[in-house]
Amino acid sequence: MHVLWTLLIPLLMAEEMVASQARSRRELAPGLYEHGVYDAGGSYCEHGDVCCNGRNDGCTVPYLDTICYCDLFCNRTVSDCCPDFWEYCLGIPPPFPKPHGCTRAGRNYPSGATYRENCNLCTCSPGGRWDCEDHACLMDAELIDAVNGGNYGWRAANYSHFWGMTLDEGIRYRLGTFKPPPTVMNMNELHMSMDSNEVLPRHFDAASKWPGMIHEPLDQGNCAGSWAFSTAAVASDRISIHSMGHMTPALSPQNLLSCDTRNQQGCSGGRLDGAWWYLRRRGVVTDECYPFTSQESQPAGQPCMMHSRSTGRGKRQATARCPNPRAHANDIYQSTPAYRLSSDEKEIMKELMENGPVQAILEVHEDFFMYKSGIYRHTPVAERKAPKHRQHGTHSVKITGYVGWGEEHMPDGQTQKYWTAANSWGKEWGENGYFRIARGVNECEVETFVVGVWGRVSVEDMNHRK
Ligand SMILES: *[C@@H]1O[C@H](CO)[C@@H](O)[C@H](O)[C@H]1NC(C)=O
Ligand SMILES: *[C@@H]1O[C@H](CO)[C@@H](O)[C@H](O)[C@H]1NC(C)=O
Repeated sequence: MHVLWTLLIPLLMAEEMVASQARSRRELAPGLYEHGVYDAGGSYCEHGDVCCNGRNDGCTVPYLDTICYCDLFCNRTVSDCCPDFWEYCLGIPPPFPKPHGCTRAGRNYPSGATYRENCNLCTCSPGGRWDCEDHACLMDAELIDAVNGGNYGWRAANYSHFWGMTLDEGIRYRLGTFKPPPTVMNMNELHMSMDSNEVLPRHFDAASKWPGMIHEPLDQGNCAGSWAFSTAAVASDRISIHSMGHMTPALSPQNLLSCDTRNQQGCSGGRLDGAWWYLRRRGVVTDECYPFTSQESQPAGQPCMMHSRSTGRGKRQATARCPNPRAHANDIYQSTPAYRLSSDEKEIMKELMENGPVQAILEVHEDFFMYKSGIYRHTPVAERKAPKHRQHGTHSVKITGYVGWGEEHMPDGQTQKYWTAANSWGKEWGENGYFRIARGVNECEVETFVVGVWGRVSVEDMNHRK
């Protein structure tokens, strides 16, 4: 008994002191709402599940950087009640006008709340309205409907991996080939020796002529490095073809992105002539040895993890192990100098048939991102919208085949000839990663700058590698 009292008395005293301190602070403090009600839609007494009768200075919950009260005493001239005290504890409307929040799909949101509408952020303004940003989006439902509703010869689709990106971001992160400067554009064209009456087959598909040697479309992700992807793609096929299938390497775009850094900008874009120079002089390893890891646009780039040295006769050997520790073959693959073809469709067709897939520059417009199937031609669907919805940028791809006249009937009954090309936006995009594009009309500049190359294949390669 004695022990209990000695414990209890200091406890009671301590409690009284706390109460009086709290009380004095409460009486001296200005009303909580002198400068307006903040967070009038918030949940406080309700959240703490407290409501007290009379005066109870302990009946509080945290409110912003202070506390608010949920006892009846708070409701006096100088109010320090929590904003939801009246509604939650008394069941009456609060004595201040409730600011309007915003509604969406039947629900109420306080001002400051946000949601995303495709590529635009919407914010609930104090006036009770949703204020949305107004960027042009990469996937645009209106444009998809306009393409599919018009007779353009191709269909558009909504790609979930592009949904939420702005058109600017699409142009900035999904392309990545610099336009060749005039000195390169004026590079001598190599003309195929060709009889003007020469009749070429109506169809051609590299994968049928060279089974097992044409590599699948790649995926550059959000890396504006199509210069490296299209170069690796064309070189992989060409080395396989020119070695007659003795080597079928899938070459590493990452090797080019990280190591071919002279005048190149990795995932922020690069030049094709620089990429071919690197492939000829330094060479690259396979994608398995040096896998693709760049995910976002990386202006600073990643350090180069693969180097090579000459072993004489123009051949090179890796001086580092594969960045992928599970891969052991670090053979270096090289090409001969790349050559530019004429823009004549027949010459391009003939080169394709004789030597394999070619690289082409493509001017990508806003509607191309939504391509799903059919024969692509740039459409005027974005012309009804503000100028920011019309943008284009330079890309590069691998042409793998063509189909001649009279094969594909357009909605207007006309027939259309086209190229088949592999893009580097993954296999979910387009026709399993491929697209078809009108041929013979330089659609989106596709016939302006076309490049071929020979793999560097020696007799030893034919004998030893496989
Ligand atoms: C609360 O305060 C308001 C305004 O001072 C007054 O009209 C109302 O009667 C009070 N309610 C209670 C339950 O004391
Ligand atoms: C497009 O796809 C996204 C993601 O799958 C989806 O949220 C969106 O509602 C779709 N938009 C249209 C217009 O179909």
